[in-house]
Amino acid sequence: MKVAVTFSVALALFAWCVVRAQEAAGGAAASIWKGVYTEEQAKRGDALYASHCAACHGPTLKGTEMGPPLTGSEFTNAWSGLTVGDLLERSRAMLPEDPGKMGRQEQAEILAEILAFILSMNKYPAGTTGLSHDMQVLKQIKIGPKPE
Ligand code: HEC
Repeated sequence: MKVAVTFSVALALFAWCVVRAQEAAGGAAASIWKGVYTEEQAKRGDALYASHCAACHGPTLKGTEMGPPLTGSEFTNAWSGLTVGDLLERSRAMLPEDPGKMGRQEQAEILAEILAFILSMNKYPAGTTGLSHDMQVLKQIKIGPKPE
């Protein structure tokens, strides 16, 4: 009897640890607050943003008559609960249709740099690993309010 009780306590403790470890791993891989791009990438993205997006969204992302702001709480709240992958898909639609000139892969590479810049302008922290252009990875990065 005593053995059984000890065993179930141990089992409960083990289960709790597994859940905590999963939470930690999931959070680390999936939050926009964990440093999902690098400073250098954002700098490269700045130049690309200037040539591809600034005409409509403004040089400081505050928006123009041609396009809405890509910074500020209205923007980040609207995207809360979605992912950086969704943001990339949305942004892809902004690039001029020119399939002969730029393949999907090249588009994704350019957009990942631009998104790094947009994230930096929205004060999400930079990290040591660059933002991937792999949709599978980007779909894991949740946009949302800063965790407590
Ligand atoms: C020709 C003007 C124009 C250009 C260039 C342009 N956009 Fe846009 N963008 C818009 C307009 C207009 C909207 C709002 C209507 C819509 O969502 O289609 C928008 C919406 C967006 C949204 C959604 C905003 C929100 O609040 O949900 C994102 C993200 C975005 N653009 C990113 C980009 C990126 C990144 C680039 C550069 C690769 C870019 N756009 C280039 C005009 C433009």
